Amino acid sequence: MSNTFEAYLNKFNENDWLSAIETLAPEIHEVDRAATQIWFRFFPLGLFRYLQSAEDKEKAVQAFVIKGDYELKNQIDTSHHFLYGHRFWKTVKAAIEAESSVFENGDIDLAEETRQVAALAAEKLKVDTSLVLGITAVGFMTVVQAGLDNFKNATGEVEKPQGLMTKSPNQIVKVRAKDDSQGLFGFLKTIDKKFTVNYTTPKFEGKFGIIIEEEIASASAKDRSRDWKATDDRCWEGVVPVECRSAACGTCWVGVLGGEEKLSEVERLERARMEIFGYHQPEDAKPVLRLACQAKAYGNISIVIPPWNGTFGREVYGVEHVELEPATTSAKETRTIVKDAVKNQLM
Ligand code: FES
Repeated sequence: MSNTFEAYLNKFNENDWLSAIETLAPEIHEVDRAATQIWFRFFPLGLFRYLQSAEDKEKAVQAFVIKGDYELKNQIDTSHHFLYGHRFWKTVKAAIEAESSVFENGDIDLAEETRQVAALAAEKLKVDTSLVLGITAVGFMTVVQAGLDNFKNATGEVEKPQGLMTKSPNQIVKVRAKDDSQGLFGFLKTIDKKFTVNYTTPKFEGKFGIIIEEEIASASAKDRSRDWKATDDRCWEGVVPVECRSAACGTCWVGVLGGEEKLSEVERLERARMEIFGYHQPEDAKPVLRLACQAKAYGNISIVIPPWNGTFGREVYGVEHVELEPATTSAKETRTIVKDAVKNQLM
């Protein structure tokens, strides 16, 4: 039987959560602003609830061609490895547990409830609330999808920050924004500029080179620094899982932690396919969720690889297959058709 706090969190649908995150975004430190929005798209509530109520969950998972670990209950202490706030997880988790035992005000706004618990954790940690707001929201959703008992039973232990994450929040933001130098006469270069893609996965982090206007997946495939298949079954050639390379399979979705403005704009094919896959790509022309086989780089970027992939938009959100319109029809129209279908499902 769920307690009052768990019941409160469970009353919100995916739209409510995304709207609360949008409200909180300006208050979340820049280091975790994109990361928090990405996390909520890596673990969509709509998919979780669909599978939870499915008569045969295994069959549904197979039908959605889900590969990798999509279940939060298996990764309570690790799913948020790419947030700066990850280091504060144990304290944030304890603050959420404490709140769950005293919670009474079931009418409180979700964003406000998140602020209040984040403030308690921040006080304990002696850090600014902006640094724990994102991870607190993540903790709330983890309670929803893993269940309060499982949440409490997790140890809360996290590994020490490594690499870039050892720097201060502002330094991390600065490093992510910076492009590689193109040398003394770099300003003369047009077609051969080289940049870097920094990546993080649930297991390790690293980087690979990318040539200006190259798709992320194509650059990732040239990186032979590891036996990729041994690191993740979904990886054949490089750290980014790929199959079709033509926006047809949904395998290559990635979150963009920094530098999204240095990627090409989303075109109508990517936009429509993301909706059909079920990936909740934000409306922006250069959003924080991309298909790596479609997004071209024009500078350094930082990405996070999701632990799973699948195709579930039609069944979970009721997205109809949209024939890509002739070039004379606007991409905006496709976007509207698909968005309306998604919204109707989420209401
Ligand atoms: S590799 Fe299939 S959608 Fe990108």
